[in-house]
Amino acid sequence: DALGAPPRDLEGRRVLITAGGTREPLDPVRFLGNSSSGRQGCELAAEARDRGAQVTLVLANVEPPLVPAGVAVVQAPTAALMGEAVTERLAGADVLIMAAAVADFRPARVAEEKIRKDPDSDAAPVLELERTPDILAGAAAAPDRPRVVVGFAAQTGDAPAVLAAGREKARRKGADLLAVNAVGGGRGFGDVPTTVHLVDGRGEQLDVISGTKREVARALLDHIGRLLATMAG
Ligand code: CTP
Ligand code: CA
Repeated sequence: DALGAPPRDLEGRRVLITAGGTREPLDPVRFLGNSSSGRQGCELAAEARDRGAQVTLVLANVEPPLVPAGVAVVQAPTAALMGEAVTERLAGADVLIMAAAVADFRPARVAEEKIRKDPDSDAAPVLELERTPDILAGAAAAPDRPRVVVGFAAQTGDAPAVLAAGREKARRKGADLLAVNAVGGGRGFGDVPTTVHLVDGRGEQLDVISGTKREVARALLDHIGRLLATMAG
């Protein structure tokens, strides 16, 4: 490993990480999903483990080979299940990292039977959607909130637009750190290098991190380790 061993700065810390992309069912065989592979969250989990942390990884539809050994795993395939899995574990966590791509909208109703075409017409159904709760904002506002709450924001657009949207989002979410990265046009998803703008809760840019997802994980955990060290306890 070209990176070498990380510092053991998270010894005894409890780190809760979400990874992957939620799938919101439409009927028994269909869902609304997204392109998140879960790689970034899995790299964060492996890196936190190597720094001595006790890691719980909450997974939404992540391929098993990506999941690192030596971490506790909880499956949470939908936004609702992920919300429950995170909320239940908030009080015990020192750090929450929401690397998962959580659906913003889900079908308002899940059909009990597979949705069929009407053989007598070309009509297509119109799906009614409803909002899902914002897990990150809820966790950041919770009384038993982890000391460090971190979000990931995938933004489309050119570099200035990506950063501007990320700064605004950081201020709105109440997270301590927000990792903003550009996606679309081949960027961001899967096993590709990324560039992440790290902003704090006031929307101020702290760092720009470029590299593999493991390198991004290491740099982000450097910031998280420093932030924890400045807090009492
Ligand atoms: N997030 C969450 N719960 C949701 C949606 C998003 O916890 N229902 C978290 C994601 O895990 C991520 C962060 O919020 O850490 C930012 O997600 P993003 O989709 O960029 O932000 P949104 O507030 O959903 O804004 P947008 O309308 O741009 O999608
Ligand atoms: Ca979103």
